[in-house]
Amino acid sequence: MEKKNIDWANLGFCYVQTDYRFVSNYKNGAWDEGVLTEDANVVMNECACVLQYAQTIFEGMKAYTTADGRIVTFRPDLNGERMEQSAKRLEMPVFPKDKFVEAVLKTIRANEAYVPPYGSGATLYVRPYMFGINSVIGVKPADEYQFRVFTTPVGPYFKGGVKPLTIRISDFDRAAPNGTGHIKAGLNYAMSLHAIMDAHKQGYDENMYLDAATRTKVEETGGANFLFVTKDGKVVTPKSESILPSITRRSLMQVAKEYLGLEAEEREVYVDELKDFAECGLCGTAAVISPVGKVVDHGKEICFPSGMDQMGPVTRKLYETLTGIQMGTIKAPLGWVVEA
Ligand code: PLP
Ligand code: COI
Repeated sequence: MEKKNIDWANLGFCYVQTDYRFVSNYKNGAWDEGVLTEDANVVMNECACVLQYAQTIFEGMKAYTTADGRIVTFRPDLNGERMEQSAKRLEMPVFPKDKFVEAVLKTIRANEAYVPPYGSGATLYVRPYMFGINSVIGVKPADEYQFRVFTTPVGPYFKGGVKPLTIRISDFDRAAPNGTGHIKAGLNYAMSLHAIMDAHKQGYDENMYLDAATRTKVEETGGANFLFVTKDGKVVTPKSESILPSITRRSLMQVAKEYLGLEAEEREVYVDELKDFAECGLCGTAAVISPVGKVVDHGKEICFPSGMDQMGPVTRKLYETLTGIQMGTIKAPLGWVVEA
């Protein structure tokens, strides 16, 4: 397979149109077979439910070229499961997990020429999504839906690659208790746009959102979960009902315990404890593990001992082990790495 002529090493996290996408339609209570198409545009009525009431959910995954030249993806069954949960919460029909995985693999295979080579530092980002497409003017769910999967080659999510980030504690809330923070709904990202633009304007890379009820506990950022390392080398991640259950984070907790022999704990993390941690990172499909050097709490700087030049040592080990598993240089737990 001849690869496209792309400058893989200099890709940012931007949309590049690839050749094929998968489309399946839900009508009269059933999903059709679905097809691959070269048409990247979606045509819908002006009153489509997604346009008026934001009835849309999505997933994010990556395809990798392994050291021995296979094309693989990471734990797609978990993305399929999470999309089922997201659909139920927004009163959308479930696109079954098995069909989800099949559609993802098929779309990756069709765009093989865009899967960046091993060692290039880039990956093929895969975006499954679903939205209410028929016209709805009273507030109610749509009856017709479209499920699609597109791919786009990407580089690092944060400019500067592995340079530690500076983040601020946000005065805006991301999710309410009993709200939609735990699902991957477009609406969670729409509400974060003002906060992220404002953070960038003030010179910060990202927002640290707190729990909306007490504003004392760490939740997550707009697009990634937090990982902390204590001074005695334990990995800690915030437990909350209103954050997205990150597949990267769940995998890293297992990697910490089973591959690195570290203690790893999911528990409530208080803002007051931040000063006591040795390392901090953001984890997610797009972020992989991006180190955080500094958190700013209303002008007060909390600097992690790992500093502003490089990843902390435990964060680095986690990063290297996870990416080694994903790229096939480290043996993966059963079912984690799936060939396209
Ligand atoms: N949190 C939010 C809000 C996200 O958008 C994402 C990205 O998917 C994550 C966390 C990380 O989740 P995952 O590791 O499953 O990609
Ligand atoms: C991902 O990591 O896949 C995400 O969806 C995060 C971001 C691009 C919104």
